[in-house]
Amino acid sequence: MKVRYPKWEYADTPPHWSPYIEYVQARNAASTIPSYVEPFLVKIMLQARQALDQKDTPLDRDLVVFIKQEAQHCKQHDAFNRQLHAAGYDGLKAFEAELEATYEDFLANRSLKFNCAYAEGFEALGSGMAQIVFDGKLARFEADEPNPGSELWRWHLAEEFEHRSVAFDVYQTLFAHQNPIAGYFYRLYGFFVALRHLGGYSRRVTDYLLSVDRAAMTPEERAQSVAREAFFKKTYARLMIPKLLMVLSPFYNPGKKKVPPALARYLEAFEARPA
Ligand SMILES: [Fe+2]
Ligand SMILES: [Fe+2]
Repeated sequence: MKVRYPKWEYADTPPHWSPYIEYVQARNAASTIPSYVEPFLVKIMLQARQALDQKDTPLDRDLVVFIKQEAQHCKQHDAFNRQLHAAGYDGLKAFEAELEATYEDFLANRSLKFNCAYAEGFEALGSGMAQIVFDGKLARFEADEPNPGSELWRWHLAEEFEHRSVAFDVYQTLFAHQNPIAGYFYRLYGFFVALRHLGGYSRRVTDYLLSVDRAAMTPEERAQSVAREAFFKKTYARLMIPKLLMVLSPFYNPGKKKVPPALARYLEAFEARPA
């Protein structure tokens, strides 16, 4: 695990960075999430470091890298999202304000246990998505050539996979060690809260982004766009459901997930790039 610093410029990246705009707008909607959830994760994991009270253990060293990786993810998504705002999707601000308020509420009013279970739920979604992307299952929706929009997601998801067991190990150590059965059910609770919250948010933001795009379409184009969206959603649900079911197992351990070969190759190639 290590921190990587991409140097992409998003100024010339159009909001439609792949011709399959129904896929792209789902990704763009999701791109607003890291700007708010990841600063929240950083704060929660700093609290977890205090609660663990064991410095220089393997988990503590991983936590330090996890925190630095999430900070970089957030920074890159912020830069990308500025282009979405500049492109005239003015309604995004209200969705983002809602997300920001939710995490402020979590920090102020929820327990560290709840926040760690939610964080692990978010992380479980991220590592599942990384497997799908690096197994090449969404290639048909991507642009032919890599661009900063697609690269942002590949880098982010590769690192999400790389640090997939950190939030899980923190949760297990702090909250499931003494009572594994209660700890298991509470982990599921955190997962379902994250799934419902972020799934609902992404759906509403995607609907908004596509409604702006479709306002400029002819009725035929709109019908085609709706059909393409339905196909993407069906494909994605079919791929994601088995990943979500895995999380429900009492034996779930993200550390045991096999690294997709394309993901290992991607990170190797990333590191070989000139600085
Ligand atoms: Fe991240
Ligand atoms: Fe993460």
